[in-house]
Amino acid sequence: MSSTAMHQTEKATASPIRAIHTPLTKLLDVKVPVLLAPMSTGGGGALAAQVTKYGGFAFIPAGDDTVENLKKEVQAFEDIVKPSPATQVPVGIGFLVWYLDAKHKELLIAALDLKVKAVLLAFGDHMDRWINFVRDYDQANGHSTIIFVVVHSGEQAAAAAELGADVVVAQGIEAGGHGASYAPPLMVQLSVVQKAIPDNGPLIVAAGGIMTGSHIAALLTAGAHGCILGTRFLVAQESYYTPSQRNAMVAAKINTATKRTLAFDYMVGSLGWPEGIDGRALKNLTTQEFDAGEPVEEIRAKYEVAEREGDASRIATWAGLGVVLLTRTNEPVKDIMHELTEECFTRLKAVCMLLDN
Ligand SMILES: Cc1cc2nc3c(=O)[nH]c(=O)nc-3n(C[C@H](O)[C@H](O)[C@H](O)COP(=O)(O)O)c2cc1C
Repeated sequence: MSSTAMHQTEKATASPIRAIHTPLTKLLDVKVPVLLAPMSTGGGGALAAQVTKYGGFAFIPAGDDTVENLKKEVQAFEDIVKPSPATQVPVGIGFLVWYLDAKHKELLIAALDLKVKAVLLAFGDHMDRWINFVRDYDQANGHSTIIFVVVHSGEQAAAAAELGADVVVAQGIEAGGHGASYAPPLMVQLSVVQKAIPDNGPLIVAAGGIMTGSHIAALLTAGAHGCILGTRFLVAQESYYTPSQRNAMVAAKINTATKRTLAFDYMVGSLGWPEGIDGRALKNLTTQEFDAGEPVEEIRAKYEVAEREGDASRIATWAGLGVVLLTRTNEPVKDIMHELTEECFTRLKAVCMLLDN
């Protein structure tokens, strides 16, 4: 980086994050409509705390974790953010609905008992059951939890609106990690979802391939109320990705570096995803051998060795199509949040200048 560029970056990160207002920032009581995605294997309470500290809203993944670990991650968040004990914990927890269906509702109960501000429900055929569960639990306990529902089609968005979700997450095919193989690109998905829900329906958050402030500005201009980013934060200092995974992401420079696959789910035995759901990750030896039809047990044996080393040549490095834009491997969240919000702010201002008055 040139000394002028470095000076400008230092100047930008020293200044406070500038507010960007949308109905979502009002609902969540945050400064900017930038959200950290729940990312199993990717991040926990410490990463979420940094995003919160710099004006965004963050999700911690419950995934297929234990109640004990979930509590540990929320505690790690609280240790940094230090919310007032009288208020809700200003964080969200992301749930895999098929995992809740498989009798793991204790995770959801633990989150609600911790009084987290929001829950995100994704990937399941019984969304109604869990939205109603949260509403009933809240009513019995005098809480009010904001419910996000991840959708991949107009029908799913309309159903989520009907069920009273507060926010729908329109996830496009670009997204890293699990998503729908049938989802259209995000810009199309956003319009599909907008058309499917009524004017006074849930707020809309965009997800999938969002990497820059310009992307966020474009999506806000197109009517999204906020953006969820996953891959962009995987190179943050507080991410759980190993050095090998980070290096593999920064080295990925072509659009075919990732693929949608269930190969890694076969490796770790997480095979309860609803029809049409798979995950986008960097291609590596595991996907290569899986696609070539090598016996799963043999690939798994090599996978387990690689897992101990955190070796990205075999383990899952979930990443979205935007991975090609990553250039650095170990960034402070502070810098990422400044870069995203400053660029978004500048773009939005520039767009306003296109008008006569
Ligand atoms: C490493 C990784 C793990 C993920 N784990 C989850 C998860 O546990 N629950 C979930 O709802 N979504 C999960 N996702 C999907 C994200 O919520 C989000 O939709 C996605 O990251 C957005 O796309 P992007 O990565 O291109 O920004 C994961 C994504 C990644 C990259």
